[in-house]
Amino acid sequence: MADFQQRDPLSPAFWDERFQRHFTPWDQGGVPQALRDFAAASGPLTTLIPGCGAAYELAWLAGLGWDASAIDFSPAAVAQARAAAGAHAARVVEADFFAWQPAAPLQLIYERAFLCAMPRAMWPQVAARWAQLLAPGALLAGYFFFDDASKGPPFGIARVQLDALLQADFECIVDQAPSDSIPIFAGKERWMIWRRR
Ligand SMILES: C[S@@+](CC[C@H](N)C(=O)[O-])C[C@H]1O[C@@H](n2cnc3c(N)ncnc32)[C@H](O)[C@@H]1O
Repeated sequence: MADFQQRDPLSPAFWDERFQRHFTPWDQGGVPQALRDFAAASGPLTTLIPGCGAAYELAWLAGLGWDASAIDFSPAAVAQARAAAGAHAARVVEADFFAWQPAAPLQLIYERAFLCAMPRAMWPQVAARWAQLLAPGALLAGYFFFDDASKGPPFGIARVQLDALLQADFECIVDQAPSDSIPIFAGKERWMIWRRR
């Protein structure tokens, strides 16, 4: 394990250090299959990718004609995402998820390795912001990491805890095992879709 100076995942510097040193074990290196299947079935949605990291999904969705935006508060992540996004680089914004405001109402928030990047004490704030950003009927779809190890990131959740976090504002309408998990998440993640009540 590399010896890092930054230890607080609530600080952009924590993530900058890891992107700059190419220590990104969460990075899928491409667009995961369940998102591909979902996008094929749903058609274009106004979408936010919070904590986007390298943001492979952004250029792919934008290429399909989706109005997608990706945000990250780490300048190093944003630089990598913009490089990956090519012609769609302007859709990558350096912003804090808790402060960013959408230009148009969101129909989808895509979750991947963002909730689990947050210390558990932050989860109620993440869930509240998801609920604030999505109107009734809009979707929160993506990958949720289930684990009980005390150290992270990634910080895993228990299913009962996820239900408690989301059930007041969201209804779970899809819950499936992904087919292409990378090692850090293998056997411990689910592709889920939650609809805003
Ligand atoms: C584990 S990485 C996941 C990146 C990407 N979603 C992926 O699947 O590869 C978590 C990302 O969330 C970003 N992040 C953490 N807290 C954030 C916040 N409050 N606002 C915006 N981005 C944040 C970090 O900078 C980092 O790029």
